[in-house]
Amino acid sequence: MVQRNCLLLALGLVLAAWVAAHGDKNWPVPEEAKKLTNPMAPTETSLAAAKAIFLEACAQCHGESGKGDGPEARMYDVKPADFTDAHMMGEMTDGEIFYKISEGRRPMPTFKKRLAEEQRWQLVNYLRTFAPKPAPASKPSGAPAKKAAPHKH
Ligand code: HEC
Repeated sequence: MVQRNCLLLALGLVLAAWVAAHGDKNWPVPEEAKKLTNPMAPTETSLAAAKAIFLEACAQCHGESGKGDGPEARMYDVKPADFTDAHMMGEMTDGEIFYKISEGRRPMPTFKKRLAEEQRWQLVNYLRTFAPKPAPASKPSGAPAKKAAPHKH
């Protein structure tokens, strides 16, 4: 049955390659979209307006504090993005975030019809307030690494 094992292994490798290429980390954004610049300034009023939209339209999945832990998050296989992840946010341009909010990707809905362009740009500024400003190479760890509970024997 050596042959059969080889076949299974090959299938496994193909599957792994496919997941690597199409997995949830890979959300392709057109280059032109990435280059768009945000026309909205992150003023206090604009951020307050965006916060209201966020709480109404996004927080159920992304969580009120942007951690991706909203009450509906557990209903989906794909975890909603964690906006407190400075590394991830640092890698995305404003245009890229704007594109993702506009287009959506299942289970995340499309917002280009529901929200005006200015509202989506305001949301981009608001999402940036969740992560600590300077994006360092190392991830700020949300929760401290789990320590094994001391064993009593
Ligand atoms: C129904 C749940 C749901 C709602 C509502 C929702 N999202 Fe999402 N969002 C997701 C999921 C799930 C992902 C991850 C999708 C993926 O990676 O394929 C995501 C991803 C994102 C991303 C991309 C992050 C990345 O890593 O590429 C942004 C930006 C985003 N959401 C912003 C918003 C904003 C702003 C709103 C409100 C206007 C919103 N989302 C509403 C579920 C939701």
